[in-house]
Order: sequence, then C-alpha cells, then structure tokens
Amino acid sequence: PAPMIVEDWDRLTFRVNREAYRSAEIFTRERGWVWTHTWLYLGHETEIPNPNDFKVRTLGGRPLIFCRDTAGEVHAFLNSCPHRGTVLCRENEGSTRLFQCFYHAWTFRNNGDLAAIPDADAYESTDEFKASMGLRGVPRLEIHEGYVFVAFDPDVPPLLEHLGDAADYMTMIEQQHVGGMTTLPGTQQYSVRGNWKLAVENAMDGYHFAPTHNTFVGYLRESGFAVTDDNQYAYNLGNGHGLLVLTGHGGRISMLWEPRFGEDERVRTEQHRAEMTERLGEKRAHYVADESHILFVFPNLLLFDIEGLSIRQLEPVAPDQTDVRAWQLVPRDEDPAARALRMKTVVSFVGPGGLATPDDIEAYEAVQRGIQATAGTAVPELDYSDMSRGMADEVKGVQGRSTDEGAMRGFWRHWIDAVGLDDGLQVHGERPASFLAGRDMR
Ligand code: FES
Ligand code: FE
Repeated sequence: PAPMIVEDWDRLTFRVNREAYRSAEIFTRERGWVWTHTWLYLGHETEIPNPNDFKVRTLGGRPLIFCRDTAGEVHAFLNSCPHRGTVLCRENEGSTRLFQCFYHAWTFRNNGDLAAIPDADAYESTDEFKASMGLRGVPRLEIHEGYVFVAFDPDVPPLLEHLGDAADYMTMIEQQHVGGMTTLPGTQQYSVRGNWKLAVENAMDGYHFAPTHNTFVGYLRESGFAVTDDNQYAYNLGNGHGLLVLTGHGGRISMLWEPRFGEDERVRTEQHRAEMTERLGEKRAHYVADESHILFVFPNLLLFDIEGLSIRQLEPVAPDQTDVRAWQLVPRDEDPAARALRMKTVVSFVGPGGLATPDDIEAYEAVQRGIQATAGTAVPELDYSDMSRGMADEVKGVQGRSTDEGAMRGFWRHWIDAVGLDDGLQVHGERPASFLAGRDMR
C-alpha cells in the first residue's frame, strides 16, 4: 500500500496521503489506538463546580458521565448500565446523588457504588454481587490545572509525561490571574463535515490566515494595521502537541491593535502586566501581556487565547464528520467591564458565528469535498497533500514562522505512532534533530 506520510529531506518535501482523512479503516484504527491508548481531554473541573454536579459527554464515541460525587471527588464513568448496558444517564447535565437506570431501575450513587436493585433477594450472595456491579470508571483520570484528562488504557504513562511542554503552558494560563480561572456555564457545539485532523491542521496553520480570513484582514488593513508573520512562530512541542505564538499585539482579552479596543483596554493590560511581573516574573508577564497563542494538545484539545480564551474539544464522529465543543475560560474575579469586552470579542471572533470560525469551517469542509477528486485515481502520487513549508528552516534549526507547517508535521509524525502504523512513514534522506526544539516557557 502507498505510505501514509512521505518525508523527504533531500527534496525538502512532506506529503500526507489523503486516505488519512477519508478512510473508514483509518478511522476505526484511530478509535482503537489513539482514542484508547492516549490521554484524552474530557472537560474542565469548573464545569462541575459543586458536589453532585454532572455532565454527560462522548469521547471517541464512548458515552461518559463526568461528575463530582457527594464528597467532592471528580469521576468519569462509562454511561452504560452495568446490568445490560443501557445508557444510564439520559440528561445532558444537572445535579444528582443517584443515577437510576430506566430499564430495570438499578440505582447507583454518584461515586459509582450500586445503591439498590429491585428484588435484590432474587440474586445469590447479594452483597458480593452488588459490590461487583458498580459503575465502571474510565481506567485512568488525572487533572492538570483543572483540565481533566482520561485514558481507556490503564497502562498509559502519567499525564504530565504525555503533556510535556504543553503542561507548563497550561499552568501559565491558570496562573495569569490571582484567583485562577473558571469556565463559564454553557457549551458552544457544532458539527463539521470534515475529518478531525483538518481542524488540527487549521489551528496550527498561520499560512491560511490572510487569504482565508480576508474579510477580517481587510478590516484590519482599513484600520491601518499591516498583517505580517514577523514575530509569529509555530512550535512543535513534541508528542503531537503544537503551539502558535503571535507576538507584538497581545492583550489576553483582545488584540490591542484592533481599533475597536480603546485606551481602557491598554491601561488594563499594563496594570495586569505590572501585577504579573511581580508575581510570576518578567518572562511570564510578557507571554501573557504581549502574546496570543493557540495550543494544541494531542489529540483532542485546543486552547485559543486569541480574543478571549476558548477551550475546544474535537470529537471524531465519522471519517468526514467532527463534533466541536467549546467553552470559555475566564478569570474568576474579573471586573464586569472586562468580562463584557471579553464576551464580545469571543462571540465576534472565535465563536461559531464569529469573524474567524465560519471561514475555518468552510476550509475543513472544502478540503473534505475537494480530496474526493484524487481518490482512487490511477495515479496514486496525486493523492497526497503537501505540508513542506518551512522545512529548510527545520534543517537549519531556525525557529519556524507561524506561516510554516512545522507544527503540523510534528502532529503527523506523532499520529503515525499513535495510530500504530509503524510502516506508514517513509523517510528519505537524513532527518535533522532540530524540529523538536520546543520552547523555553520559564
Ligand atoms: Fe439498567 Fe437493567 S439495563 S437496570
Ligand atoms: Fe483560521
């Protein structure tokens, strides 16, 4: 079979087989490998702030209950009755001490214990039986800075090992305000007719910004702001994670260069910078006050701190369909004027009806339709997408621009491992070590 990825260091090209976006076989492999043996982002702890809170969520097609028990501990249970498998919780969210199955009315506590079975004495050795029929927890659950991750394989390495350099970046987000961060109630959810990896590529792709978002870019230009990739970088963080950094116009809530944000926002950012410099040091303060970032954590979490701070989760539904869920992360004790500005920028930019997101969705969907043109032709070489931009800099060890495709290449190289296609990567020539440079966050 044709290789999934062809990496050629003599010609400086990197090509991805388009079957990766549309093959049912690959999709099944991803479910069985990536969505089973990798840490997955489940949700944020602050989505279930109080004892007895719960939400239901689907990860890799598996229905789950994400809840906090009466004692305050966070759990992820399979949302499937241990009796005969019925979906146990049929509400999206709420607060409860008990989950009762509608089919035969078995009842479970929110710590997973089986509380009651109708006609329990019809079962032999009732106590032992009950003890074996509690809710099934996802084998692993770990929390980093409020981000709750789960894994369906008990033997995955510790979460922090998987997160690597991404972990510290998440800490930076959490620490940027004295009282920490919290999610706002409410989820934005939409479905896209495109493969989940197209959403990953798009998030790690500064190259598309000017042409795809030309309405927004036109608005900036008319306002006297020149869009360039100067001081904008893409980092391959390893383990499939990536980071895009846009510097020189930061401001956590908004991009300060935008004409719609006035003096107040500038003053607020400077005050915030002074406070952070004292508390976290100059470098951190600079990262928060002067930069915008897009962080991708392999395989299903995106953090956009570009015009607000959005958490996005990708849920692959079919080779050509992805559900996207988004939440807003905000400082706990933000002043109302800043909060109002934040929400305005979120809705008008990264929200599903904003200036940026509909353009991006059109891009995923147009790729998914367009790649049908080269499927199964008699010339298999045609059926590859190109991600070569910036490879020459990788060889020289120069940090890639945000318009380069180095972060994407890092994602794809890790994907090959994660999906268990050991022979899926064909490398020609000598691969330089420089592409795993990462970034010093301290
Ligand atoms: Fe849930 Fe029978 S399937 S009680
Ligand atoms: Fe975009």
